[in-house]
Amino acid sequence: MKLSQRSGTIEQSHIRSMTRACNALNGINMAQGVCDLEVPRKVIEGAYTAMNEGFNIYTPTEGLPRLRSAIAAKIKRFYEVEIVPEQVLVSDGATGAFYTACMALLNPLDEVILFEPYYGYHRSTLSSLEVVPTYVRLESPEWKLDMETLEAVVTPKTRAMVICNPANPSGKVYTREELEAIGEFAEKHDLIVFADEMYEHFLYGDAVHVTALSIPSLHDRCVVLSGFSKVFSITGWRLGYAIAPVSVIEAMAQLNDLIYVCAPAPLQIGAAVGLEELGDSYYTELARIHEHKRDLFCDALRDAGLNPSIPAGAYYVMTDVSSVAGNDDFEKAMAILEKTGVASVPGRAFYHDDAGKNMVRFCYSKPLDVLEEAAERIRRL
Ligand SMILES: Cc1ncc(COP(=O)(O)O)c(C=O)c1O
Repeated sequence: MKLSQRSGTIEQSHIRSMTRACNALNGINMAQGVCDLEVPRKVIEGAYTAMNEGFNIYTPTEGLPRLRSAIAAKIKRFYEVEIVPEQVLVSDGATGAFYTACMALLNPLDEVILFEPYYGYHRSTLSSLEVVPTYVRLESPEWKLDMETLEAVVTPKTRAMVICNPANPSGKVYTREELEAIGEFAEKHDLIVFADEMYEHFLYGDAVHVTALSIPSLHDRCVVLSGFSKVFSITGWRLGYAIAPVSVIEAMAQLNDLIYVCAPAPLQIGAAVGLEELGDSYYTELARIHEHKRDLFCDALRDAGLNPSIPAGAYYVMTDVSSVAGNDDFEKAMAILEKTGVASVPGRAFYHDDAGKNMVRFCYSKPLDVLEEAAERIRRL
């Protein structure tokens, strides 16, 4: 059968191909971003009880009122920002929330600014909707935002920009000043800002998460995306959400209904229970455990003579691999895999051109014993 033009717009995921190569060698897969911690008991029991109590039918497409309220309460609890539950749409993962938001807000040939290195799904989602990504590069190790470069990519067709904060893959955490500058810029050019805050609780050192919702110039022009995949280690439950002005949520809800109908009913209760009942120590512990893993693995990369950019948030590290044999990032990632049995993602997965040819990304959210083994092997590189 002849495939549609759209089906050709999605690049085969480099993460999946590295995973296949890793499995063939029985290696340690640090390519894929799967949070390894145990699911909190309260979350599991909340979902289990909900199933037993009959929460097994469709929910409102916007999400169960209890979960929407719990998300609104969470925004108040962590960020001192007031939102109403009607500003929340629960979807099938942050992935579903972003897709729905793009469908509701963008037209074919609109341009949307992405910061490089980007998260591949952002680019693919835009391309699949015939939206045109444009790129602003942030350079390692600081990943500093240069407002002049940003100004230079704006055209009359630019409708929006995407920020990933904390960023996958760079680990950059945006400061309040940077977000204010982005807010001013967005106001000046009348842009929507999609703020993917999936890793909001994964913060290290003195990094703090500033949600786009707390920046006055962004509050009414941002769509915040987040979810439960990483924070509760439930990537397979497919539960995420968007926060936006009520009129946008209403438009998104129509599309969410069309594509997903609703997010899984009993699992929504599990997530709500998690938000309602897990204390602050759950979140600080999550960050502490990942900070330890970051340090452990970054030390090994340094010892191996690689040059990692130390992440301030999320749970990935981009590292320079110029010193590794191979003509490009793919060959270098394969060389690392063959020598050490540790899989990474070639840098090209995060850039639209060859800027990633001397980089790879490792995901360090691995069980501690596996990570220690990986660190040992990398040291021998
Ligand atoms: C930045 C970012 N956003 C969104 C997602 C996907 O989230 P979900 O599982 O809720 O669809 C990921 C997963 O890796 C991610 O890294």
